[in-house]
Amino acid sequence: MILITGGAGYIGSHLAMVLLEKGRDIVIFDSLELGHIEIINILKKYGNVKFIQGNLKKLDDIRGAFLVNKIDSVVHFAAYSQVAESVKNPQKYYYNNVYGTLNLLNAMIEFGVKKVVFSSTAATYGEPEYVPIDEKHLQRPINAYGSSKLTVEKIMDDYDRAYGLKSVRLRYFNVAGADSKSRIGEWHEPETHLIPNILKADETKIFKMFGDDYDTPDGTCVRDYINVEDLADAHIKALEYLNNGGGTDYFNLGTGNGNSVKEVFDACEEVLGRKIPLEVCPRRDGDPAKLVADNKKARSILGWKPERSLLDSIKTAEAWEKSLQKIKSGIIL
Ligand code: UFG
Repeated sequence: MILITGGAGYIGSHLAMVLLEKGRDIVIFDSLELGHIEIINILKKYGNVKFIQGNLKKLDDIRGAFLVNKIDSVVHFAAYSQVAESVKNPQKYYYNNVYGTLNLLNAMIEFGVKKVVFSSTAATYGEPEYVPIDEKHLQRPINAYGSSKLTVEKIMDDYDRAYGLKSVRLRYFNVAGADSKSRIGEWHEPETHLIPNILKADETKIFKMFGDDYDTPDGTCVRDYINVEDLADAHIKALEYLNNGGGTDYFNLGTGNGNSVKEVFDACEEVLGRKIPLEVCPRRDGDPAKLVADNKKARSILGWKPERSLLDSIKTAEAWEKSLQKIKSGIIL
């Protein structure tokens, strides 16, 4: 069985859906602090999911998951991931993302589970010295979120040397889109990410564009938007890689193409077929001008490649927004 921590959250639930559709049995471990029970209930319609509500900060919670299930590998998503919040409250980030992961890894070792795929981030690179960013780029995070993820990467190296624990660290760029059948998708409260914020905007909630004076072609920040279903596929490849005896390694997951905030905004207007109210605001603290992945390593070693476009991500995100309204109003149970 595969254990998915954070499987009631955005990216974890998409991997869960793909695994269920492949007929795999999974255990989801989630505190439901940020994840949603509604997502678990939807997943349950598509296969054999066992759900354990627990907190990684409590060693006994996670030990319990290993005690009662035959787990052979782990995909570890559970974490706090808001950059701005991590700068204000690093304690919360280190305690949850590092200490929580230590409990998970220690339980894995106790129960002889030696394979883990870990959600890392482009934020471990910090301010880029060059783009596209390859895996050789120096890792010098500029916020506690990125530092907490880099700390876990280092712990995983030491745990491989000492205990033979094999890890694949997947460094995500900007994750976007939703399930292509609109069953699950992005659901953050509050929402801080670009695409859902553009799609949720209306006359009462004007979309705020943070900065148009960056050193980029149109003055707005450039990011690499990787589709969440493509990302889920990369986790499947990473699990296969470990199952085939692959060693500890790390991979960037992005498309290799950058899109500016203005380009994303225009594409959203095209998909919605209407004008979206917009206000250009000052820069948001800590936003680098340009983040784009070099994904050659994931292509060559994992045999993965992104298949879906930015427009696919926007269309699926838009369809999911409609499902989400129904879920929130109890129409979909
Ligand atoms: N943006 C806006 N208005 C909004 C939201 C975002 O203009 O309402 C802009 C941001 O300023 C930024 C771009 O859109 O220029 C993308 O912002 P997101 O918040 O969607 O994503 P980030 O690039 O800040 O961060 C994401 C993840 C992080 C991860 C990082 C790594 O949320 O967890 O990618 O690249 F660390």
